[in-house]
Amino acid sequence: MSQNQLFRTKSLDAMVSQSEGGHGLKRALGPISLTALGVGAIIGTGIFVLVGKAAANQAGPAIMLSFVVAGLACLIAALCYAEFASLAPVAGSAYNYAYATLGELMAWIIGWDLILEYAVASSTVAHGWSKYFQKLLGQLQIDWFKPGGFLSQFSDAPFDFTPEKGFFATNFFFDLPAVVITMIVTAILVRGVSESAFTNAIMVAVKVSVVLFVIFAGIKYVVPANWTNDFAPYGYGGLTLFGTPILGGSDKGMMAGAAGVIFAYLGFDAVSTQAEEAKNPQRDLPIGIIGSLVICTLLYIAVAAVLTGMVPYKEIDVNAPIASAFEKVGFASAQFIVTVGAIAGITSVLLVMMMGQPRIFLAMARDGLLPYNFFSSIHPTWKTPWKSTVLTGFIVAAGASLLPLNILADLTSIGTLFAFALVCASVLILRVVDPGRNRPFKCPGAPAVPALGVLLCVALMLSLPSENWMRLIIWLGIGLAIYFVYGYHHSKIGHDTTN
Ligand code: ALA
Repeated sequence: MSQNQLFRTKSLDAMVSQSEGGHGLKRALGPISLTALGVGAIIGTGIFVLVGKAAANQAGPAIMLSFVVAGLACLIAALCYAEFASLAPVAGSAYNYAYATLGELMAWIIGWDLILEYAVASSTVAHGWSKYFQKLLGQLQIDWFKPGGFLSQFSDAPFDFTPEKGFFATNFFFDLPAVVITMIVTAILVRGVSESAFTNAIMVAVKVSVVLFVIFAGIKYVVPANWTNDFAPYGYGGLTLFGTPILGGSDKGMMAGAAGVIFAYLGFDAVSTQAEEAKNPQRDLPIGIIGSLVICTLLYIAVAAVLTGMVPYKEIDVNAPIASAFEKVGFASAQFIVTVGAIAGITSVLLVMMMGQPRIFLAMARDGLLPYNFFSSIHPTWKTPWKSTVLTGFIVAAGASLLPLNILADLTSIGTLFAFALVCASVLILRVVDPGRNRPFKCPGAPAVPALGVLLCVALMLSLPSENWMRLIIWLGIGLAIYFVYGYHHSKIGHDTTN
């Protein structure tokens, strides 16, 4: 085995010219479309579903600070992504950045890890979609999925997991609405990126309006005592090492809350996977990445403040926190608006996440690490990576229909934080090994800011429930096995090394 190959880096100039020659995707996206894509990928299951559990069980009203901490970690990662996206506007996101700096083995690990961030996140999101869709049917008095309804056994995954009980059967067959929405989104994506961006823009408009509605309609019902009586009931900590609390305290607290809501922020980096479809990538990618993240951070802190102000944290409904908060204060009709907004919001997240995954596969196939003919196949008319889009659809549908929501969400979060930490580290490394390179956008405050990004991401990984580390390690182990069976032998760089 050649060590040289495992650690050999790929030239950034070669990547840019590779993407420009022959296999180019259609360049259709400007700064507004890219920012909308970012917002489209960000606001979804996290703010409509997962925020409730984090506020009620992990942080209390201090969930507002959890959003600040999680937003800060993501902002630093976003600045690092923006630096890379501007100097190497090619498909593949963090995978390519690692190939340029840390070498082939690390690039493969990140590429494999990004499947957690895109495909597994999509499964999580499709699950969340199914929950809200079933809620909407209930509001319309349609009882198909309710107990006794003719589809009642097709409303959820056949397994669930709790730390106390481990895995157990639920008596459901599989989650049918999650499969159906995944197939619809796959069909839209195969058809073409402009149409997808247009569909996305409509859904983004709907969901941002609904989030603003939540903030402005909810603010009237805020009781400040709900914040001040017990602002941080679980404390400010929550860091654990394989289940043992570190730095004092317990496994709950503001930091655990931040890890619990990090999922809500994921998606801004999906903008960087659209590099080859951007009209002016060096200027517009940083705008899209940072702009979408800043917009969502402000909205999230406001939603968290309104939610914990409307309802005492102990009474927050963990399944449908925002809709139920309005019900509790006597504004029941708002529930319908929130449900429709959540469905639109979650659909657009699914669209962007499922658009990102095939483009990462494409970047890996170009390097020979995945079968080239299949993953690099661009549709002659629609100019989309259609075969890998369909494959992604099958993977997402399988995960969404069969695995429980909490496992999928935490696995996505740990995998993504790992990728963020490596991107921040790669920025530091590239500044040292290639200081003279033209950087149209530079992460400010280097080296301190990217280093803080690495620390924050690792701290948040440590704040997630400990069984996730084991799952991440198993996942990466499977990835390494595939690399040594296939990628190592087919890698283009490997061939250049041996020839
Ligand atoms: N941030 C996305 C969501 O919350 C993944 O659904």
